[in-house]
Amino acid sequence: MTRVAVIGAGPSGLAQLRAFQSARKKGAKIPEVVCFEKQEDWGGLWNYTWRTGLDEHGEPVHGSMYRYLWSNGPKECLEFADYTFEEHFGKPIASYPPRAVLWDYIKGRVQKAGVRKWVRFCTPVRMVTYSKKTKKFTVTAHDRKKDRMYAEEFDYVVVASGHFSTPNVPYFDGLPTFNGRVMHSHDFRDALEFKGKDVLIVGRSYSAEDIGSQCWKYGAKSVTTSYRSKPMGFKWPDNFKERPLLQKLVNRTAHFKDGTTKEVDAIILCTGYLHHFPFLTDDLRLKTANRLWPLGLYKGVVWEENPRLFYIGMQDQFYTFNMFDAQAWYARDVIMGRIKLPSKDKMTKHSKAWRKREEKLADAEQMIWYQGDYVKELLEDIDYPKFDIEATNKTFMEWEHHKAEDIMGFRNHAYRSLMTGTMSPSHHTPWVDAMDDSMESYLGDGKKGQRREAAE
Ligand SMILES: Cc1cc2nc3c(=O)[nH]c(=O)nc-3n(C[C@H](O)[C@H](O)[C@H](O)COP(=O)(O)OP(=O)(O)OC[C@H]3O[C@@H](n4cnc5c(N)ncnc54)[C@H](O)[C@@H]3O)c2cc1C
Ligand SMILES: NC(=O)c1ccc[n+]([C@@H]2O[C@H](COP(=O)([O-])OP(=O)(O)OC[C@H]3O[C@@H](n4cnc5c(N)ncnc54)[C@H](OP(=O)(O)O)[C@@H]3O)[C@@H](O)[C@H]2O)c1
Repeated sequence: MTRVAVIGAGPSGLAQLRAFQSARKKGAKIPEVVCFEKQEDWGGLWNYTWRTGLDEHGEPVHGSMYRYLWSNGPKECLEFADYTFEEHFGKPIASYPPRAVLWDYIKGRVQKAGVRKWVRFCTPVRMVTYSKKTKKFTVTAHDRKKDRMYAEEFDYVVVASGHFSTPNVPYFDGLPTFNGRVMHSHDFRDALEFKGKDVLIVGRSYSAEDIGSQCWKYGAKSVTTSYRSKPMGFKWPDNFKERPLLQKLVNRTAHFKDGTTKEVDAIILCTGYLHHFPFLTDDLRLKTANRLWPLGLYKGVVWEENPRLFYIGMQDQFYTFNMFDAQAWYARDVIMGRIKLPSKDKMTKHSKAWRKREEKLADAEQMIWYQGDYVKELLEDIDYPKFDIEATNKTFMEWEHHKAEDIMGFRNHAYRSLMTGTMSPSHHTPWVDAMDDSMESYLGDGKKGQRREAAE
């Protein structure tokens, strides 16, 4: 029987399991699917851990999410087309759910699909090699519970191990002798640690924006963010400032490129992540920065050098869950022979054309339309329920507009589901006052204990 190894049971790996299960439900004979997951539960980054550094088995901790994290985009833009929020929660819910609510949603679909038995938990993949002679992959994995290393052969491998987990940590003069707290966003867990402190954030992307906002919301004395390329440019509160790049630290004084200085107690490096696949040999390994079109992947999915290998979710992301689904459905259909791939030259030519277009994108709005077009192209070839990309892009545009209007208030907006047409309710508590990020609090009526006054 054909065997498929899926590495990772985050949203991308789970999309792959659901894709195969969906084909089986429609009567197709599917390959044997084995999913290797390093953590002891599924959901990837959405499976919160308090741990930092190494986990209980000495493995690098995968989790980069933190307490009080809410969706940074409207949930309507990531909704699964085959499993809606309304189906899962039994009612419409507000548009920017906290992590626990989204984790529950992700789990709901795969629980319903009954694919948990395909996953080997606490089992990191250590190595994948390919034999041209046998046309098979050897996957070496480590069952941490039994402390047993073993190798098995597979016909196809799907890499869905994520790329927001291995921190990119730049060096700044004076860091080794800075006598405050220094961390990367990967290790950030609780903004309350910074209550009453002067916090410096390095970076200008989503982690910088959200961790800075979290620190502000949970009572930091001041937040200073430092950018390399350009400021985020939102209308920040008075005690929240943007400065050009950090040059050095002298004791606790941060010196910036424009000559200004600021005394700080803590530094959080929101400087992004590395695509890191220590388990792949050179001939199989994607090497890329975080961008919308990594080269070498036909349709953003198929490893052109060896089309028995697939990558899901390796792009920088505006679209997330439903894009991973489209990618997983595509990989499934190639594996099941439903989609015939063109020659390697044609695949590379196709990818290069997308890359050329990517290089011309000037701003976030253009990037959203570009990624929307990409998802649309995938949808043309697969039986994933078609959803309206144009309407999704327009919801993203509204989101951008709401952020520009009020960076601490954009999460108070509500949008219409693009899958069911139902308008989402407004959340019961404005984001700046909602201190409790539990599912009970979010789905409740807003009367119990989650307001700012109650938390203080
Ligand atoms: C701080 C933060 C906040 C985010 N917030 C949002 C948001 O609000 N909305 C949104 O849509 N997206 C958000 N994202 C983007 C996020 O990348 C996606 O939502 C999603 O989690 C990606 O899914 P994935 O399965 O590709 O990767 P991951 O979620 O990273 O899952 C990968 C899985 O692979 C496993 N794995 C890794 N290596 C191995 C190995 N060697 N062997 C076996 N298993 C392995 C990991 O344990 C993990 O379970 C956020 C990302 C970060 C870092
Ligand atoms: N739900 C949420 O609220 C939430 C919160 C956090 C993160 N996320 C998600 O997490 C993912 C990762 O976001 P991210 O912000 O961590 O990574 P990212 O989007 O890849 O951005 C990396 C940032 O690091 C900066 N940087 C890199 N090297 C630097 C250096 N040497 N000096 C100064 N700056 C440097 C980059 O600067 P330049 O721009 O100048 O190149 C960029 O601003 C995204 O998908 C995001 O949506 C979501």
